[in-house]
Amino acid sequence: MNTLVTTNVGHCQTLLKNGEVVAIPTETVYGLAAHVFNDAAVGRIFELKQRPKFNPLIVHLHQMAQLDSVVRHIPKKAQKLMEHFWPGALTLILPKHPDVSDLITAGKPTVAVRMPKHPMTRALLQGLDFPLAAPSANPFTRVSPTSAKHVLHYFNGKIAAILDGGPCEVGLESTIVGFEGETPVVFRKGGIAIEALERLVGPVRLFTDNESAPQAPGMLLKHYSPRTPLIISSNIRKRLEACTDKRVGVLSFYADDFPTAETIKVLSPKKDMEEAAKGLFAALHALDALDLDLIIAEAFPEEGLGRSIQDRLRRAAH
Ligand code: TXA
Ligand code: MG
Repeated sequence: MNTLVTTNVGHCQTLLKNGEVVAIPTETVYGLAAHVFNDAAVGRIFELKQRPKFNPLIVHLHQMAQLDSVVRHIPKKAQKLMEHFWPGALTLILPKHPDVSDLITAGKPTVAVRMPKHPMTRALLQGLDFPLAAPSANPFTRVSPTSAKHVLHYFNGKIAAILDGGPCEVGLESTIVGFEGETPVVFRKGGIAIEALERLVGPVRLFTDNESAPQAPGMLLKHYSPRTPLIISSNIRKRLEACTDKRVGVLSFYADDFPTAETIKVLSPKKDMEEAAKGLFAALHALDALDLDLIIAEAFPEEGLGRSIQDRLRRAAH
């Protein structure tokens, strides 16, 4: 059975109520969603993604009132962050409510929650009396999907439907923030820049990869990976000179003058970091479909969303 690609929100609500898995658009990336209190449906997400059970999921809701059914306590700075950034690309790790199953939290005492901004998914959630558990809609370790087409490529015939909300506005997964007491800790760099968080709540601590292996298992070093080998370079032209015998695809920030490259994807000719973030995963999907020998990606500046982009490229290169 082919997967239905649809804009019919009501139909997707019915499927979700019946315990089906449905792909949903969010402003960050597409998610693979299921009824948060239906363990069989949530279990199916893990199967579909071939995701290890130690990797917990994010709970998606549409209004603050729903928090009571999922979390036990909200630190002051978490409250401030959600009031400012929700709906939006921010996930908070909070002490979990006993009703949230260990399947979702991987047995942790905390749960990840986020209020997405995409209007179609907001409409979808508004018609449901339960939140949705949803990881990104890609098989484990692969590049996240930022369009219905990317999801279809991965899961055609395996899920009932994809709610098609067009290309994702932000294009990077949410920034994940947890708390050590009242101190915010960034577990994953994402669609909201660290600088923006710090302007609101003061200094945050950044988790290192060594720490995050046990703590935030989703932050595995190999992640977001195309099938084609990928390297990062701050001098693409020089790298190209060393690979004249190879079919090389270039992924650049704004430059396009690489005559010996087989193909070039420019993320933002006007050097706009948000535009670059938005197109990043689509460019990786497109380059990966070309059977190239190598992808050379340009190193991004470690500031603002550049840090999140660079994080994804490093994991893609691992
Ligand atoms: O933008 C997003 O966050 C997208 C859209 C669909 O909302 N979702 C997404 O989900 O990226 P996923 O499953 O690909 O990434 C969730 C991350 C994983 O790295 C997981 O380890 C982490 O959240 N996570 C979930 N619950 C956690 C917890 N209790 N403590 C620490 N990390 C947690
Ligand atoms: Mg993911």
